[in-house]
Amino acid sequence: MPLTKKCHSCHLVTLLFVFVKATPKCGITNETTEYHVTCTPTDNYNYNLQRGLVSDNNDTTKLTLRACRIGEVDFEAFENLYSLKYLDVSQNKISELKLGVLDGMSELNHLNLSHNLLTGFPLGLFDQMPKLNDLDLSGNKIRTLELGIFDTLVQLNWIDLSNNALNGKDLTPYVFDQSTRITYISYERNNMNGAPANLLHAFEDLRTLNLDRCLLRDVPEFIRASNLKTLRELILSTNQFKKIDDASTLIYLDNLNTLDLSDNIIETIDPNSIKPLKKLKVIILRRNKITTLPDTLFKDMKSLANIDLSHNQIESVPVNAFRGTSLKNLNLASNRFTYLTDNFCLELRNSGAMLTKFYFNQNPWQCGCLRNLLDEVKKFNIAYNGVMYDGKHPICVTTNEVFCKRHDTFNSLYTELYDRLVLGLKIY
Ligand SMILES: *[C@@H]1O[C@H](CO)[C@@H](O)[C@H](O)[C@H]1NC(C)=O
Ligand SMILES: *[C@@H]1O[C@H](CO)[C@@H](O)[C@H](O)[C@H]1NC(C)=O
Ligand SMILES: *[C@@H]1O[C@H](CO)[C@@H](O)[C@H](O)[C@H]1NC(C)=O
Repeated sequence: MPLTKKCHSCHLVTLLFVFVKATPKCGITNETTEYHVTCTPTDNYNYNLQRGLVSDNNDTTKLTLRACRIGEVDFEAFENLYSLKYLDVSQNKISELKLGVLDGMSELNHLNLSHNLLTGFPLGLFDQMPKLNDLDLSGNKIRTLELGIFDTLVQLNWIDLSNNALNGKDLTPYVFDQSTRITYISYERNNMNGAPANLLHAFEDLRTLNLDRCLLRDVPEFIRASNLKTLRELILSTNQFKKIDDASTLIYLDNLNTLDLSDNIIETIDPNSIKPLKKLKVIILRRNKITTLPDTLFKDMKSLANIDLSHNQIESVPVNAFRGTSLKNLNLASNRFTYLTDNFCLELRNSGAMLTKFYFNQNPWQCGCLRNLLDEVKKFNIAYNGVMYDGKHPICVTTNEVFCKRHDTFNSLYTELYDRLVLGLKIY
C-alpha cells in the first residue's frame, strides 16, 4: 500500500515537469502603422525564451512580453527583429542578459527591462541600439553601472534606475558622458549617500531629477552644479533631512519649477537657502517637523503659487512670509496654530497673492478665529476643506470669551483644550 501511494506522487512530479515546457501565447495586432506582438503566459511556470517564439520577423515593430514568466533568455531569442522599435520584457524573472542578445535592433527606441532580477549588464549589451530614447531599468537588483555601458546611447532621453541596489559611493559620474541629452533620471529607492559631487556633470538638459527614498541625510552635494540650471523638477521626498540651511546647495537651480521636500524630518528652513529658486512655482513641505515659519521665508518669491505646509507642527503663521508671491494654493492643514492674522486673505491680496484654494482644517482653532477666517474665505470665494464643518464634528475650541485672541501667549491654553476635547488625548 505505501508503495503505490509513493508512486502516485512520483507521477505527479513528472507531470509538473511537462508543464514547464508550455510556451507563452503570442498574438498579433496590426495597428495602422505598428505590427505589435503581445505574449501572455499560458501557465504558472517559468519559461525559457528561445528563438522562434518572437524572433525572425522583419515586420514586428512592437513587442510586449510583459509578465510572461520568462526566466531565461536564449542568446538568439530576439534574432532578426530588424524593425523593432519598442521592446517591453518587464515583470519577468530575468536575471541575466547575455552579451549580444539585444544586437541588431538598430531601430529600437523604447526598452523596458523593469521588474526583473537583473543585477548588472555585460559591457556592450546596449551597443547596437543608437536610437534608444527611453530605458526603464527600475525594480531590478542592479548594483553597479559599469563605465562604458551606456556609451553608445547618445540619444537617450529618459532613464529610470529606481528601486535597485545602487550605492551612491560606487557610482561613477562618467557613465553618462555620452548620454548628455538625458532630460529625466530617477535614482529613487537606491542608497545615494556618498555619491560623487560631480555625479550629474554630463547632463546638458536635465529637467527632472528624482531622489525620493534615497536615504539621504543632507541635500546632496551633486545638486550644486552649474549645468543644472536646466532643472525644472527636483524630488527629494522621503529622505532624512533635518534642516535646509545651506545657502549654496540650491544656488544654480534658477529655473526650478517644483521642489518636493515632503516626508522628511525638516525642523528649520533658512530663507536664504531657497531664495536662489527664482522661478519656483510649487514647494511641497508636507509631513515634516516645522514649528516656526521665518517672517521672510517665501517673501518676494514672485513665481511661487503653490505651497504645501500641511502635516507639520507650525504654531504661528506670519502673513509676511508669503508677501510678494503669486500664491494661489496654500495648504496649512494639520498644524498647531490657533489663529491667523486678522484679514489674512485680504493682507495677501494686498501684496499680490490671490488665493483660490486654502486648506486650514485640523488645527487647534479658537472658534472665534476660525469663524473670522471662514467669513473671509467665503467673501473671496476661496475653496477650502469644509468636510468636517457640518455642525456634527468638533472642529474648534472656545472659552467663555468667544472673540479671537491673536497672541501666542494664549496658544497653549487652546491647544491643550483642543487636544483634550477634540482629539480626545489625555493630558498629563
Ligand atoms: C498586417 O498588415 C500588413 C500590411 O497591411 C499585412 O501585410 C499583414 O498580412 C497583416 N498581418 C496580420 C497578422 O494581419
Ligand atoms: C530582414 O531585414 C534584414 C535587414 O534589413 C534583411 O537583410 C533581410 O533580408 C530581411 N529578411 C526578410 C525575410 O525580408
Ligand atoms: C515598464 O513596465 C512597467 C511594468 O510593466 C510599467 O509600469 C512602466 O510604466 C513601463 N515603463 C515605461 C517607460 O513605459
